[in-house]
Amino acid sequence: MDKFIIEGPTPLKGTIPISGSKNAAMPLMAASLLASSPTKLNLIPRLNDIYTFKKVIEETGTSVVFDGGSNSMVLNPANLHNTEAPYELVRRMRASFYMLGALIGNAGEAKVSLPGGCAWGPRPVDLHLKGFEAMGVKIKLGQGYVFASIDNASVEGGEFTLNPSSVGATINLVLGAVKRAKKFVIKNAAKEPDVVLLCRMLVEMGADIEGIGTDTLTIQKVDELKGVEYSNDPDRIEAGTFMIAAAMHPESDVTLTGCRPEQLGKFPESFNKLGVECTIDGSVIRIKSTDNLQPVSVTTKIYPGFPTDLQAQWATLMTQAGGTSMVTDTVYFDRFSYVPELNRLGGNLKVEKNRVTIVGKTQLSGASVMSTDLRASVSLVMAAMVAKGTSEILRVYHLDRGYEQLEEKLNRVGASIKRVPQ
Ligand code: EPZ
Repeated sequence: MDKFIIEGPTPLKGTIPISGSKNAAMPLMAASLLASSPTKLNLIPRLNDIYTFKKVIEETGTSVVFDGGSNSMVLNPANLHNTEAPYELVRRMRASFYMLGALIGNAGEAKVSLPGGCAWGPRPVDLHLKGFEAMGVKIKLGQGYVFASIDNASVEGGEFTLNPSSVGATINLVLGAVKRAKKFVIKNAAKEPDVVLLCRMLVEMGADIEGIGTDTLTIQKVDELKGVEYSNDPDRIEAGTFMIAAAMHPESDVTLTGCRPEQLGKFPESFNKLGVECTIDGSVIRIKSTDNLQPVSVTTKIYPGFPTDLQAQWATLMTQAGGTSMVTDTVYFDRFSYVPELNRLGGNLKVEKNRVTIVGKTQLSGASVMSTDLRASVSLVMAAMVAKGTSEILRVYHLDRGYEQLEEKLNRVGASIKRVPQ
């Protein structure tokens, strides 16, 4: 297990390229299993979660060739013969649960392990299962697995309302329906760019999906989907993370390239209240920070609301704001494991139910802290970069799941991060 040794404070000055999106890539990989010919995906990031999902897919007999250097991946399901996604792989990464929809779509059956809980509490999949039952898929649970099957080549379909709206359930149900459901309507569907991209790629492959980008998706089965060449989106959460990191130190001046700013939803509305200079020009976002950072309270919501995946990063930024602010998470109610660690660095944060109150401005100082999950870990890195002195961030394997070349990107713009074996 590696750890980071970080010296601070360091302003960030220079250009950071944004990598492909982790959360958008995996549904595209899963969708490739539905095609009768190979699919080539571009802008696929070199991340542990991607390599884990590659292993899960290869378990079925599908071939996956990933050229990390060019971030491109070719998937060929010609030899798909095993419709099982085993516990030892699925437990490592929740998105492996997309295999349920992909295998129902490809083979009409699946045996998929239930995913493990997440660092901030159990993460249910009841909406996925109820949605498939509403579609006409037979679902049974046993020994920690989901057994899915359909009696004929297709199911009648029907209608299902997601409550709450769930990104994963929307993705899974779309994957299962496009080749199997005569007509299936998903209400209160997630509208994240990840869902839109998946639907657009499936339509390019030959699927029949109406309502893309809205909260009602209507799917009608087609008999065949063909492989395509398709590009992944850049990672909007990575872009948002680096925008926040650039606002942490008063002298930072950072340019992000390869972005899709229109996918940031309402995040820029809050960001523009900070008092930092933020200019957007096509796919380039430039942030010039300020020594008079304003406290800005936010509440996370499903897309296009403030993303829960930027909640920890925002609370960390608020330690540097001149005043008190609150961050409320309405998507996950206990995603605050970073708070005790941030307080060890000198932050003044207090959690009550699903809200954290941050009193700023506090001078952070170096300490040893523990990563607990992907977004908490990057928040501790951001805090350590402005803390006075030396910090040690333990268990950085969490970071390697979701940020491609994080320390290289940050060191190139002035950070001082050393990765050492723990
Ligand atoms: C996706 O997770 C993302 N993961 C998460 O990003 C992100 O935080 C989340 O969407 C919300 O935007 C990937 O895309 C791989 P949900 P997902 O189903 O699909 C409840 C990161 O840091 N729910 O939209 O699992 C659930 O408990 C990760 O990159 C049910 O109740 O999230 C939550 O409260 C973390 N029953 C809410 O819905 C279900 O069957 C939203 O979860 C499914 C979900």
